[in-house]
Amino acid sequence: MTRVIATINLKGGVGKTTTTAALGEIMSAEFGQRVLLIDLDPQTNLTTMMIGEKRWQTLNDEQLTLAALFGEAVEPTGTPFDIEKAIQRDVSSIRAARDVDLLASSLDLMEIQEGLSFQQYGDPDSTRPVEVLLDAVTPVLDDYDYILVDCPPNIGMLTCNGLRLADGYIIPTIPDILSTYGIPQLQSRVERFAARIDHPIKEIGLVVTKYRSASSVHRSVIEQLQRDDRIANVIPSWIPEANQIAGAAEFLEHRTLRRKYGSTGQFEALRMMTEDILTNAQVLL
Ligand SMILES: Nc1ncnc2c1ncn2[C@@H]1O[C@H](COP(=O)(O)OP(=O)(O)OP(=O)(O)O)[C@@H](O)[C@H]1O
Ligand SMILES: [Mg+2]
Repeated sequence: MTRVIATINLKGGVGKTTTTAALGEIMSAEFGQRVLLIDLDPQTNLTTMMIGEKRWQTLNDEQLTLAALFGEAVEPTGTPFDIEKAIQRDVSSIRAARDVDLLASSLDLMEIQEGLSFQQYGDPDSTRPVEVLLDAVTPVLDDYDYILVDCPPNIGMLTCNGLRLADGYIIPTIPDILSTYGIPQLQSRVERFAARIDHPIKEIGLVVTKYRSASSVHRSVIEQLQRDDRIANVIPSWIPEANQIAGAAEFLEHRTLRRKYGSTGQFEALRMMTEDILTNAQVLL
């Protein structure tokens, strides 16, 4: 059975991409899961984190990114998107994380998403514009245990395509006042979208990121989140703010996940977060 988890938050820079990358690598290396990462964000952060800018450029030139898929949906050229060719296999530089594949994003998606919105605007009742990703990925679903979809910081057409494919979602957030402000709105937007497409999208949990133990604001915001009835679940292992985790964004060869994410508690926190998410996903999805 394949479970699809979207990483979303309307707020930018809260650790969505970093959480998705770590989750994918740890699911594979530590829990033996076959993982497909899908980068839906035109900023291409997850893509360059995993394969670097040079390889991305080659893929983009060869029409093997999601820009080719969505471009074809907006303005068909008659060249169907070849998902098998587009999926980049075994992208992690960590030897133990051998089952991590990637469907790359593209900077060109910025313009293409406007075309998708235009299509939706022209026919508001149609669900076709939000089913592009689902249709493309359906033939390879069974190759994976988990598909992790990193969404841009908005609920535009690309995120809706991610949600259409998703069975559940996680919300990474920095535990401060402004970062957590829009969470109830986000939840109700997802709920309304799920009702519209008639497909449940379960809230797996809120992931606390960039946690600073010395910050009294962080502590009190986490307590508030834990007490908040509207939040289904705050994942109990909080991801610390750490230079090593920030450094993982750079495309570099690393021998082990501990070296990549930090061996003084950072990797352990990420591993525990992954275990909690796997447990919740198995129960909920
Ligand atoms: N735990 C952490 N400790 C320190 N830095 C972090 C941590 N997590 C993420 N960062 C850094 O914070 C920045 C934002 O993280 P990231 O790109 O993962 O967020 P995002 O929510 O995906 O952003 P966007 O909304 O732009 O897609 C990056 O520079 C990243 O390296
Ligand atoms: Mg991101």
